[in-house]
Amino acid sequence: MLSRRSFLTGTAIVAVTGATGALAACGKKSTSSGGTGGSKTITLGFSQVGSESGWRSANTDSIKSAAKAAGINLKFSDAQQKQENQIQAIRDYISQKVDVISFSPVVTTGWDTVLKEAQSAKIPVILTDRQVDSDPSLFVTLVGSDFEIEGERAAHLLEKVLQAGSAGAVNIAVLEGTTGSAPAIDRAKGFKKVMDASDPSWKIVVSQTGDFTRDGGKQVMAAFLQSHPEANVLFAHNDDMAIGAIQSIEAAGKKPGTDIKIVSIDGVHDGFVAMTQGKINAIAECNPLLGPQLMETIKSVLAGSSVEKWIKTKESDFMAADAAAALPNRQY
Ligand code: AHR
Repeated sequence: MLSRRSFLTGTAIVAVTGATGALAACGKKSTSSGGTGGSKTITLGFSQVGSESGWRSANTDSIKSAAKAAGINLKFSDAQQKQENQIQAIRDYISQKVDVISFSPVVTTGWDTVLKEAQSAKIPVILTDRQVDSDPSLFVTLVGSDFEIEGERAAHLLEKVLQAGSAGAVNIAVLEGTTGSAPAIDRAKGFKKVMDASDPSWKIVVSQTGDFTRDGGKQVMAAFLQSHPEANVLFAHNDDMAIGAIQSIEAAGKKPGTDIKIVSIDGVHDGFVAMTQGKINAIAECNPLLGPQLMETIKSVLAGSSVEKWIKTKESDFMAADAAAALPNRQY
């Protein structure tokens, strides 16, 4: 089996070859389902991770509105951050004989059996947002971000934040995303890669999951402040955890953004507001507006066209000083 690592590093963007079988099936299927040129409406079964963050709400809205705009019949289910719910939803979509299945996998492992079931039923699977650790021939493509690069971008933003202010020891606390999820694994990896090549004074003093939720960030940060009062930087794997952490930092009588520098990932509305208040110092954007790209990809795949194995999302970086000017134009 090809690992997710070799897929990510070895074949970052390639035309679909591994999914030839799936595409051949799609080619046949597009004749019967109509694809973009036919008259039959495409039915998409979509399994969402949950509703854990502002990013996720924006992603769900984007999927729903893009499906409507594209004339695609969407069957949508929310897995409440549980893999077993996603597997059940995918099995339901297979038995309903949908034309295509898409999902944002809560964790990277444990998908082989259900992906093989979809392949046997000749239903193409398009991943969105997050990667899986399965044989790449079991899915057609991934529409989503490069999380390792996001981790690297966050570390580079921290370099800028530190240049602009504090000196001395850099004691970093990390609020990780959901354990075993692609963004948690890859953002940690990307951040550490830059950190190891950067100033040797950078040290991760504590790192724990806050499960991508505001409440998780709040609780875990409260514990960090007790156990590691020397922490003067927070790297949060998403804005929601950073916002939760800000509440605990303020409750402990410290100033977020000053006593504890904060860098996070996403760029949701509330994250930008926290930047305008100087409470978050910088954000590496992760774009949740994947709906239009996903619908376009679905139509291409069902029409039998080849697509890239990883359709990446365009993203930007923001320092707190840019936030006020950028905020009115943010779409989520
Ligand atoms: O997979 C994307 C991540 O999942 C976002 O960064 C986070 O906010 C979400 O819950």
